[in-house]
Amino acid sequence: MRHLVSIADLNLDEATYLLDNAQELSRINEREVKKLPALTGKTVVNLFYENSTRTRISFEIAATRLSADLINFSASTSSLSKGESLKDTAQTLEALGADAIVVRHPMSGAAHQLAHRGWISSSIINAGDGAHEHPTQALLDALTIRQQLGAGSDLRGLRVLIVGDIRHSRVARSNVLLLKLLGASVEVAGPATLIPEGIDCMGASVSDSFDESLGRNPDVVMMLRVQRERMQGHFMPSEREYQQMWGLSRERLKRVRQDAMILHPGPMNRGFEISSEAADDPRSAVLQQVQNGVAVRMAVLHELLAGDKS
Ligand code: CP
Repeated sequence: MRHLVSIADLNLDEATYLLDNAQELSRINEREVKKLPALTGKTVVNLFYENSTRTRISFEIAATRLSADLINFSASTSSLSKGESLKDTAQTLEALGADAIVVRHPMSGAAHQLAHRGWISSSIINAGDGAHEHPTQALLDALTIRQQLGAGSDLRGLRVLIVGDIRHSRVARSNVLLLKLLGASVEVAGPATLIPEGIDCMGASVSDSFDESLGRNPDVVMMLRVQRERMQGHFMPSEREYQQMWGLSRERLKRVRQDAMILHPGPMNRGFEISSEAADDPRSAVLQQVQNGVAVRMAVLHELLAGDKS
């Protein structure tokens, strides 16, 4: 494996291997010295054209824990403001010694271009490209679910419900692909305006009622942020109506199975798509997801920079 641009880059064995390795690497948290020498001498660059808290910092911690050098590229203080292109920026970073470039970009396909246009030979990791994909988020979500079931467990037969702004969600797309690959069944629910065409072709069933979907007793309820910043038009009648129809309110929380998991990739809009009661409920694994982000990104960096790339 040379790049991780899409979950479609992985087969079942590769995805399972990454998850197993991430589970193993997560144990480094229990050590006093949380560091391994595996990537000594390698350089990882975080090239983020969009804001991030969780992904950027967890890649930074992951690279540091594997003893790689980590450079954070800041769009606001770089030559981007002078009009430098993505290609020229990436080639510049490679000339400066980057072995891997972790890229987040508002344009769907940006990571694919860097990986497959032949511009550079560094490994490319997609940290979110427009509304397309966010593969390491899906991996950390799957790791979190597996831990709940018992580390190393199979996801076959598991029922996952993903709710909200599916249209603008790279998290939803990567999750549908990965969860299907791992054998889970996936239902997406949201207002018709926020369900993208073709999501059913990816293997997800589509629901137009959160309450009916909850009645089917899913094992996992994954709430998504409404991405107002990607909306150029009217996708919902009003925020109040959205909250009433599609929010995981205190009342709806009572209908979530007692042994189900509640996930949210963050950042959460408390009181909108998820109530504080749901976010802080014992069934919520939001902070476990964040924690698993480090282990998953360690596994990916290790695989790309220390593994066999044939
Ligand atoms: N889940 C996620 O991608 O969060 P950030 O935008 O904070 O990186």
